[in-house]
Amino acid sequence: MKILITGASSGLGAELARQYASSQNELILLARREDKLFKLRSELFEITKSIDIIVADVTDFTTLQEKIKPINNLDIVILNAGISLGHSDEIPTIAEFKNLYDVNVLSNHAILEILLPKFKEQQSGKIVFISSLASLISMPSSKVYSSSKRALNAYAEGIRYKYNKYGIKVINILPGFVKSELTDKNDFNMPFILSTQDGVKRIKKAIEKNKRIYVFPLRFYLIIRALNLLPKFLREKIVNSVN
Ligand SMILES: NC(=O)c1ccc[n+]([C@@H]2O[C@H](COP(=O)([O-])OP(=O)(O)OC[C@H]3O[C@@H](n4cnc5c(N)ncnc54)[C@H](OP(=O)(O)O)[C@@H]3O)[C@@H](O)[C@H]2O)c1
Repeated sequence: MKILITGASSGLGAELARQYASSQNELILLARREDKLFKLRSELFEITKSIDIIVADVTDFTTLQEKIKPINNLDIVILNAGISLGHSDEIPTIAEFKNLYDVNVLSNHAILEILLPKFKEQQSGKIVFISSLASLISMPSSKVYSSSKRALNAYAEGIRYKYNKYGIKVINILPGFVKSELTDKNDFNMPFILSTQDGVKRIKKAIEKNKRIYVFPLRFYLIIRALNLLPKFLREKIVNSVN
């Protein structure tokens, strides 16, 4: 299989590259930190058919699209690049808000604007979005991140409805806490946090099974579902006390 992974220089993306590395698979790894990508390529070189590296900032949409255009016969694109603003009670600046949306939402469309016609023509392809459990509930300290992932859910759903008749599978993954550079910045207790390997194993399995939406870990998902069923005033009280 030929697989493009964005945000492949660390965390879930780098581990996805490790777990997809095999003599059957061609990997294309995209991120900004060239040194990390080349280090990963050396690590996986012997076990993988081929590894191409794309050094790109996903918020530079024009350059990003130029670099995506030459890619053909792709089987899977994993839209994993993402950032958070951390957890803070400060009001985010408009520049921070815009940059987060550029990375977490718009960059995915910049890539799909190029890839969708190709997938449509080949009548196959898997599009994997990496959303978040945080899209299901908005914590006051991470509202911008939550809103971006909720926007991503709506976008993924629309793409699925439109393109499934062309043999294109759309898979939306909503992870809870998984160890990565992103979560290493959190200075609070993260419920049910998973190792990077375990988190990615689950994601890979969901991709294999063509799950439309995959939310994990289950226990955390059930707690959030239960919270969302509570009367609004009670939910607000609990959310504020947890926050
Ligand atoms: N870890 C969790 O608990 C968790 C939970 C739910 C969802 N997620 C989602 O999982 C995805 C991966 O996050 P992670 O936890 O693995 O965090 P991470 O270790 O910080 O990885 C983020 C990746 O995104 C890339 N990236 C960020 N900004 C970019 C930009 N402007 N251009 C190109 N690449 C960029 C980074 O590469 P460079 O810095 O080299 O560019 C890095 O490879 C994100 O979408 C995140 O929202 C994570």
